[in-house]
Amino acid sequence: MHKPLIVANWKMNPASLKEAILLASAAEECAAKVKNVEIVLAPPFPFLGAIKSVIKKSKLGAQDSFWADSGPYTGEVSWKQLAGIGAEYIIIGHSERRIHLGESDELIAKKTDALLKNGMNVILCIGEREREGGDIPIAVGIQLKSALIGVKKNMIKNLIIAYEPVWAISTNAGARPDSPDNAFRATLYIRKILVELYGRTAASAVRIIYGGSVKSANIASFLREGKMEGALVGGASLDPREFAEIVRNAK
Ligand code: PGA
Repeated sequence: MHKPLIVANWKMNPASLKEAILLASAAEECAAKVKNVEIVLAPPFPFLGAIKSVIKKSKLGAQDSFWADSGPYTGEVSWKQLAGIGAEYIIIGHSERRIHLGESDELIAKKTDALLKNGMNVILCIGEREREGGDIPIAVGIQLKSALIGVKKNMIKNLIIAYEPVWAISTNAGARPDSPDNAFRATLYIRKILVELYGRTAASAVRIIYGGSVKSANIASFLREGKMEGALVGGASLDPREFAEIVRNAK
């Protein structure tokens, strides 16, 4: 069993560096008190360096990365630059990037491959846009397999899968959290594919976490009944008290 992993995905928030430092300091205070929970803070790029200097126990994450380590890619940021300022975790393939920036399965595969090859921890996001009933749509399996197309067995120890049904993300219209039961079904579904691809032992190193309207009131049931190994937290990670409560309840 892994320690629960709680990732704060701040998205394009907060507006100022000052607020970002306050948020990070609050999360760090909580990280220092709560044992056995791993906390990753994923602020926007401009705040990464400053946040790194105020955290000790929490880890630094980035919300995206380019696949090449340097070169003529205007506007992009490389995993090497991120690693250089202390980012250890990188979120790849978030649904907001797939939707608003048109990130394709091919691009996500290229990033996943490059990052894992270079020892970064990849938080790979997959999840369906719509779901009827409890069955996990095969679109989720397709996303997973296509992202892992170049990934070899010896590379997956740094892989984390974030199952995030798009309809459950708090900022989407009509959002509601998935049920812990369905999250459990998603874990089994994802784990089965990982076992088919890499065998039982290698697959067991991969953490599967849940994202979509995670709050202090539901985190424990996603971990306990849903058998999830952590959570990717968006909106609630911007409220220092609520985030601290999520971390405490994840213990
Ligand atoms: P949410 O976002 O917690 O606000 O639903 C999660 C995410 O998009 O990563």
